[in-house]
Amino acid sequence: MSNNAIYILAIESSCDDTAAAVLKNNKVLSNVIAGQKIHEEYGGVVPELASRAHQQNIVPVIDSAIKKSGINLKDLNGIAFTQGPGLMGSLLVGTSFAKSLALSLNIPLIAVNHMHAHILAHFIDEEGYDKPEFPFLALTISGGHTQIVKVSSFFDMEIIGETTDDAVGEAFDKSAKIMGLPYPGGPLIDKLAKEGNPKKFQFTKPKAPGLNFSFSGLKTQILYFIQRNVALNPNFIEENKADICASIQQTIIEILMDKLKLAVTETGLNQIAIGGGVSANSGIRETLKAAETKYGWITFIPKFEYTTDNAAMIGIVGYQKYLENKFNDAGVISKARIEF
Ligand code: KG4
Ligand code: ZN
Repeated sequence: MSNNAIYILAIESSCDDTAAAVLKNNKVLSNVIAGQKIHEEYGGVVPELASRAHQQNIVPVIDSAIKKSGINLKDLNGIAFTQGPGLMGSLLVGTSFAKSLALSLNIPLIAVNHMHAHILAHFIDEEGYDKPEFPFLALTISGGHTQIVKVSSFFDMEIIGETTDDAVGEAFDKSAKIMGLPYPGGPLIDKLAKEGNPKKFQFTKPKAPGLNFSFSGLKTQILYFIQRNVALNPNFIEENKADICASIQQTIIEILMDKLKLAVTETGLNQIAIGGGVSANSGIRETLKAAETKYGWITFIPKFEYTTDNAAMIGIVGYQKYLENKFNDAGVISKARIEF
């Protein structure tokens, strides 16, 4: 393979997606994901089932990522993997595989923080996608996290606001569950909201101090709202589905935007990069784009496949760490909770 190119194999297994990617420097050669349908029938991720599915998927997923990249295992310069945060049983599968492969190929092992990866996914080289300039603000919104982060460099990040209870993805998923929609409900609410009137129903925005978020009150409010209305009209959900979804989504967008506006005022930074599964939401994407003209912000919205959990984002962090010799020894362990 060509002289000074760096080839990184990246493995992500923190939750319910088994993913592998191969990067050549900051470009993605392959990005493979195996989701786990099994959780749908339980209305949420079942950790024990997730680890078992990772065990089954990991070899075929990595094999496919290597084949699609067009390189050979022996061309790899390093192996990056998600160390945490995530489900312990799930993380262990990726970590153990990464360790064994790095040992057998005798190449560096690189531990990656999943939340850093959601942010640094913006540095993947993709045609038509600009990269933010340091320092900038990142809004990381997923099923497990809701954070506003001041990003000063690849390895200097500070959480300036986060949720004190549920993550924004949970607010979407739990609202969907209350309405009887299958898991994960976020993409369904997004789809149904497109046909609905966002002003039809009013929900109050929960109060959280400063740049922090709170979503559990909203979930309770939606539960009572649905129960109250279904008691009056058993067909309430069916007859108002799109309007309910649009109104819930609108409330969530307003909560996020209020905090972002405050973060911009407090930090003086006006570049906003979003990441995490919820940044796939079309309403959030549109509102952020509109904020460019409305507030003069410069916004960065990743390519769709790099928003939800994926290994390419682990690979870009792996590449940056490789350049700085930030390697781990075989004693490195998975961490369900990990220091930011
Ligand atoms: O980042 P991610 O794939 O996994 C975690 O690390 O949590 O995020 C998954 C979350 C789920 O809560 C899912 O409902 C939500 O992202 N999500 C969406 C959309 N697509 C995925 N929420 C709202 N609108 C969407 N289009
Ligand atoms: Zn994630």
